[in-house]
Amino acid sequence: MTTRLMMVMILLSVSTPPIVAQVIRGDATAGQRVYEQQCLRCHGAKLDGNGPDSRDLIVRPADLRSQSTRSKTDWELLVAISNGVLFTPMHGFRGKLTDQQLLDVLSYIRSVSPPDFSS
Ligand code: HEC
Repeated sequence: MTTRLMMVMILLSVSTPPIVAQVIRGDATAGQRVYEQQCLRCHGAKLDGNGPDSRDLIVRPADLRSQSTRSKTDWELLVAISNGVLFTPMHGFRGKLTDQQLLDVLSYIRSVSPPDFSS
């Protein structure tokens, strides 16, 4: 193999954009139960951020139906759910929920509020 060909192959492998396919291996039905137990009190039954506890929070829970949330990738939302959002009442659920439950609850959110990358 010539050096030039090798360079082209290396460049191709480096410059190929990461796969952003929205494949979630979660179960939305199981995720709904997780949501109701862990998330509803802040994000609300309609995912609009108006849960019963939201009134007392200085930083209001995200409206998970918003364009802002829908335009985020699964990965970004998963990071928010597992690590929490810094300086907000949204704490991380890694350790509290299993990896499968994290995927399930993400599936549930996506099923109610599908991804939208149009803008
Ligand atoms: C104590 C209240 C509270 C609980 C409980 C809670 N959240 Fe949050 N959540 C928040 C707040 C506050 C934010 C940050 C809003 C902001 O950044 O302005 C947030 C942000 C998020 C985001 C990021 C949205 C975005 O567009 O970046 C996701 C996703 C999310 N929460 C999902 C969940 C899930 C799933 C659960 C349950 C497993 C959960 N939250 C439980 C309060 C809560």
